[in-house]
Amino acid sequence: MFKAARLAFGHGIANARDEAMVLTLHALNLPLRLPILEFPATRKVAVADATRVLSLFERRITERKPAAYLTREAWLGDQKFYVDERVIVPRSYIAELLFDREFPFLPSANKVRTALDLCTGSGCLAILLAKRYRKARVDATDISPDALAVAAINIKKHRLQKRVKCLFSKYFSKLTRRRYDLIISNPPYVRGAVMRRLPREYRNEPAQALAAGEDGLDALRVILLRAAHHLNPGGTLVVECGHARKLVERTWPRLPFFWVETSGGDDCVFMLTREELVAQRFKSQQHA
Ligand SMILES: C[S@@+](CC[C@H](N)C(=O)[O-])C[C@H]1O[C@@H](n2cnc3c(N)ncnc32)[C@H](O)[C@@H]1O
Repeated sequence: MFKAARLAFGHGIANARDEAMVLTLHALNLPLRLPILEFPATRKVAVADATRVLSLFERRITERKPAAYLTREAWLGDQKFYVDERVIVPRSYIAELLFDREFPFLPSANKVRTALDLCTGSGCLAILLAKRYRKARVDATDISPDALAVAAINIKKHRLQKRVKCLFSKYFSKLTRRRYDLIISNPPYVRGAVMRRLPREYRNEPAQALAAGEDGLDALRVILLRAAHHLNPGGTLVVECGHARKLVERTWPRLPFFWVETSGGDDCVFMLTREELVAQRFKSQQHA
């Protein structure tokens, strides 16, 4: 049914079969981590349950909503987040780095006392930050009060209200005096041409979470200009930018971007230190 309806996938679930599985298990009130042996093909399903499954399938097809909006939950690794149409469905590659305890390029646990998740949406990355850096206080900022309301729900569900604070802020505008050891951001980065031909599944997400001007770099320009000012000496910036490595390197040729390998490839997430950002600014001034 999903293939015939030419649905689009990519909201944390990559294909029709998995999306159907997630919706089926949700409708039957079964856990996602069901071992396959406990789910024999002959399992009998009551008519009422089957009807629930089929009605979810129908909604998936007619409303073109990603499964997460229908089940009201999304997963990054083994962490569950509440989602609804006020936020994009969590799928950031930065999550992989935060989960990977062996990943050598993020600051070590005792080095991060303050961290920022800029453009937090559902708060998912802010929560993963707080779980990786157990001594850190984390600010989670967004321009959308709706998104911040969802982030607050997730922060409470993960019992992190003491260490993770939601703040309304257009990029860094409300963070005047705040400095961080680590700043991460999965900001909007979709180009105008791509926005204009987005599949309906993506148009069900808040446009503000995706659109970043004609070249997709609007958010990045602000982040690269302002981040150094909000990083402590030795601090690190981690940013996701879509598959925009070539364009980013062409636009900021003097910045020594360190591209991180994720399951999306080595053109999606980069890291920079405060010192690299400051040196580039100094070089640009000399150049001018
Ligand atoms: C791509 S979503 C990322 C959400 C979340 N970090 C994640 O990975 O699922 C980008 C977020 O940036 C927010 N945003 C857009 N423009 C902004 C701005 N000027 N200042 C702060 N946040 C902004 C949107 O509301 C949205 O929640």
